[in-house]
Amino acid sequence: MISVVVLISGSGSNLLTLLQKSENPLYPAKIVAVGSDKDAPGLEHAELYEVDTFVVNPEKSASKEKWAETLLANVLHHQPDLVVLAGFMKILPANFVRALKGKLINIHPSLLPDFKGAHAVRDALAAGSAKTGVTIHYVDEGVDTGEIIVQSEVMIEQGDTELSLHERIKKTEHELLASTIEQLAYKQLPATRP
Ligand code: GRF
Repeated sequence: MISVVVLISGSGSNLLTLLQKSENPLYPAKIVAVGSDKDAPGLEHAELYEVDTFVVNPEKSASKEKWAETLLANVLHHQPDLVVLAGFMKILPANFVRALKGKLINIHPSLLPDFKGAHAVRDALAAGSAKTGVTIHYVDEGVDTGEIIVQSEVMIEQGDTELSLHERIKKTEHELLASTIEQLAYKQLPATRP
């Protein structure tokens, strides 16, 4: 069983799927805490599942590095094996990323390296692409540049809006994130067991 901290900024639909999955005793990951940079609506999911939450607002810190240090201290307090950025919308500075190297993953709504950044769904539509998708990757010091773990395609349909396409992408995200964490957990099991 691995311990997972999830960081969110928004509605937390990916988080909710993970919380639901981890109710099953056969699922090999437990969500031990959920953090955010603001009072995100998705924190309510954690509260409902009685999972610890923390909010570290960058506006209350003297610098981005100080904010990241406080955020990191909150994350490490829960001793996670894995930290998942599931719609966490702040760019994390190098001190945070380095401290969690190999343990920090992100879910992104495009087939990276296409459409990096905060408007991936809108950008894929604007480019007239026939398909887009989902990428789960390790986080490095760049923006959406870390080593890719897995990708899944989503076709763009005629008449798709940013909202309809993002909703369909999220359905793929939910399954892909849950199954990827499961696989990462199984890979780690021999190392965590004597
Ligand atoms: C997802 O599309 C994820 O790929 C992106 O932000 C969105 C978060 O959605 N990074 P939710 O908060 O999990 O509903």
